[in-house]
Amino acid sequence: MEYDIKDKGLSDRGTQRIEWAASFMPVLYSLRELFKKEKPLKGTSIAACLHVTTETANLMIALKEAGANVALSASNPLSTQDDVAAALVLKFDIPVFAVRGADKDRYYSHIRNALESGHDITMDDGADLVSTLHKEYPSLLDKVMGGTEETTTGVIRLRAMAKEGVLGYPVIAVNDSMTKYLFDNRYGTGQSTIDGILRATNCLIAGSYFVVIGYGWCGKGVAKRASGMGAKVIVAEVNPVKALEAAMDGFQVMPLREAAPIGDIFVTVTGDKWVITKEEISKMKDNAIIGNAGHFNVEIKLEDLEDLSIDQKEIRDNLTQFRLRDGRRINLLGKGRLLNLSCAEGHPAMVMDMSFSDQFYSAIYIRENAGKLEKKVYILPEEIDQKVARIKLETMNIGIDELTEEQKKYLSSWDKGT
Ligand SMILES: NC(=O)c1ccc[n+]([C@@H]2O[C@H](COP(=O)([O-])OP(=O)(O)OC[C@H]3O[C@@H](n4cnc5c(N)ncnc54)[C@H](O)[C@@H]3O)[C@@H](O)[C@H]2O)c1
Repeated sequence: MEYDIKDKGLSDRGTQRIEWAASFMPVLYSLRELFKKEKPLKGTSIAACLHVTTETANLMIALKEAGANVALSASNPLSTQDDVAAALVLKFDIPVFAVRGADKDRYYSHIRNALESGHDITMDDGADLVSTLHKEYPSLLDKVMGGTEETTTGVIRLRAMAKEGVLGYPVIAVNDSMTKYLFDNRYGTGQSTIDGILRATNCLIAGSYFVVIGYGWCGKGVAKRASGMGAKVIVAEVNPVKALEAAMDGFQVMPLREAAPIGDIFVTVTGDKWVITKEEISKMKDNAIIGNAGHFNVEIKLEDLEDLSIDQKEIRDNLTQFRLRDGRRINLLGKGRLLNLSCAEGHPAMVMDMSFSDQFYSAIYIRENAGKLEKKVYILPEEIDQKVARIKLETMNIGIDELTEEQKKYLSSWDKGT
């Protein structure tokens, strides 16, 4: 079996951490038990490009037990947990091509390694694997049954491909399932972003001015958690509806250029490019902390930060301190890469349980519907969302009410008024 990982000696630690995560993923575990007998993915090859974390490991194991041949590459050079990569290779016989800190060439060669291991289904987080497949292996596109996409930025790229008519096979936007974005993006990113800031800086959140840029699903989570820890949260947005929502949720809203001299901590979660640039950095306070929790490392314009600086040093793990010409210090989290994974461990398993159950169902859905889907971006059927939510509630010992027959009839009628 081919693989490229950092250190095989880390596998015992990785195995223990994978088991720990499994204990918080009861929905995925129940699907794993159900489908390991039926093996609905028997003989299906899956090329995955996901953050190599303990939760992803559990997804890979579940897919393998359902009969798939999986190969895993990283979806970000700084999110790989090397112990997990080692455990997957040594204990679970799953080929992994991922090393934390890989440079761009090695990162993309890992994606090629995963693709070349088999690609009946692609499983992506950010669409780097899909775009590599389209650019470098166009002759293989017709052989792909379908793909899945985990995150907002990936879905945006795929919809752009579909619009241009270049998307070579059907893809399911797992991100757009309610049991994904309402929980993973909001509560997962919310908690793990605070976790990353704390691990890298050990700063006090209470009383600080905490600027959240982008009030989408992730931004709402980050703002809520920062506020819960006592920060004075300021939101910057470009969308008037989201800005209004932030204002009515009780946050101060203002343009980023106005927030720049006020903030102590800045987090970008827009999925957009060059959100923090020279203009904003030039106005920031001495010792401000800046980081990004959006998918790619383009939200903070790193070239601008470097241009303004006379030197930089790794002042703590995953924290680079830049000294500007006028003496001010600006502290960058996780090299501008998504900080909840580069500075911490990513989302808690309890929330990834739902996202990865959606991924698991998507793979089965693609296999069952192979050849019947068009080359466009799909959303998982609502029944699957409902099913995942129901199982999750059961595992949390939460009961809910059921509609009576009379209520069902009433809710589907139009002729009964006051
Ligand atoms: N770190 C993680 O673990 C994680 C998890 C899920 C999603 N993501 C990524 O986070 C990013 C945001 O995802 P989301 O689901 O919240 O998306 P979203 O579309 O719900 O929200 C993005 C928000 O940013 C705003 N925005 C865009 N450009 C802006 C700008 N220049 N200034 C201010 N606001 C701007 C948009 O108006 C929108 O409200 C994406 O890149 C996504 O892939 C990261």
